[in-house]
Amino acid sequence: MIEYNYRKLLANKYIPKAIEADKLDAYADKVAEADNDIALDRQANILGFYGLPEYDTSRIKYFIQKLPEKFDTMVVLGIGGSALGNKALYNALKTERELKKRLFVYDNVDPVFLHEILSAIDLERTIFNVITKSGTTAETMAGYMILMDILKRKFPEDYRQRMIITTDREKGFLRQVIQKEAYESFIVPDNVGGRFSVLTDVGLVSSAFVGMDIDALLLGAGQMRQRCSGLDLKENPAYMNGLLHYLYMREGKNISVMMPYSNSLYDFADWYRQLWAESLGKRYDRKNRQIYVGQTPVKALGTTDQHSQVQLYTEGPNDKVFTLMQVQRFQHDYQIPNLHPEREEVSYLGGKMLSELLNAECFATEIALTKAGRPSCMISLPEISERYLGQAIMMYEIQTVFTGKLLNINPLDQPGVEAGKIATYALMGKQGFDKEREEIETFKKL
Ligand code: PA5
Repeated sequence: MIEYNYRKLLANKYIPKAIEADKLDAYADKVAEADNDIALDRQANILGFYGLPEYDTSRIKYFIQKLPEKFDTMVVLGIGGSALGNKALYNALKTERELKKRLFVYDNVDPVFLHEILSAIDLERTIFNVITKSGTTAETMAGYMILMDILKRKFPEDYRQRMIITTDREKGFLRQVIQKEAYESFIVPDNVGGRFSVLTDVGLVSSAFVGMDIDALLLGAGQMRQRCSGLDLKENPAYMNGLLHYLYMREGKNISVMMPYSNSLYDFADWYRQLWAESLGKRYDRKNRQIYVGQTPVKALGTTDQHSQVQLYTEGPNDKVFTLMQVQRFQHDYQIPNLHPEREEVSYLGGKMLSELLNAECFATEIALTKAGRPSCMISLPEISERYLGQAIMMYEIQTVFTGKLLNINPLDQPGVEAGKIATYALMGKQGFDKEREEIETFKKL
């Protein structure tokens, strides 16, 4: 199992003002209430991600197995929850597993980025996967139309075999396109929100394509769900971490830094960034009172950002909670040769493994943060594998919903994203947005 060490989130001689361990018992009722709310939501079939460890992956595996061998590249077109999980998994495992197939994720509307991807792939050997739960997201739809047009022109005979679509089972414009054109399709379940959907077809199809063991991902998720099923906080990392982050938010620590000491896990921190920000950043509570809560997630990379951010983290405003991530065993490692045994400046490094230096620096940052009175926790992965990634994903999804319950907000919606979407529709001339277009004119004069 991945390890979660929260001891440095609690008060100790360096952080006397931190949350005290024996004060946690006072929140037992609040924790039980949040847990009960989650149970009710699960009964009401709202939190579908809890059920994903039992998801039957046979159709995905069959589809991948039947794909023509020529396809060695997949390009995902999606954004937010329909892209970040794919990137997190692929970038975590592409080197660990030495994956032979490539994945590109076009999750923007930047024309240069599209050009970069199109220049890097061989269209003949590429399959496209359009992922959008709503089937209407402007960014994804723009990419879909450009790519489909290219495919239709270049491969008039078999363009249908070169694009798959992952969207709602019934609703949305793309489902109609699928029916009309007979594209192969996959499903974003109704009861799983976009940013909680990495363990559905959204993340599993591309992961299976590149050669990951998707059943191991789900197995890991199931193990973590089991571990996070009781009310004893010491045994439940999602609830403990959620409660501690909640308590720090109440003390004004409104920034959560996730700092993996592993390049492979950097995009995991990006996935977490969306999950934590979009789920908890809310203006209204459940009773419609304005509360403006949330914790700004920041991603940092160890050791790289030790030479960029750690000065601020240790001596700047004490408004952050830190999560360091560490990998115990790396698939690839290098010994540092003792090239200058007579020079004390570098001879101490000679004979050590790079991973040893990396993990020593991770521990050193933990010490530096603690000595500076900054609360931190440590997530340790025995190695980077599907199983441990599945565990980490499930832990953070449960933690996010649980923290949302503690904050008394709805962690599953994102009303704040709508205003930008509506303005984009108006600016781009979509029908039915005349009133908004008029309003935009007044903005131009500001
Ligand atoms: O978490 C969410 O719901 C959002 O981030 C969505 O994933 C994102 O807006 C993309 O939406 P869609 O999948 O409908 O294109």
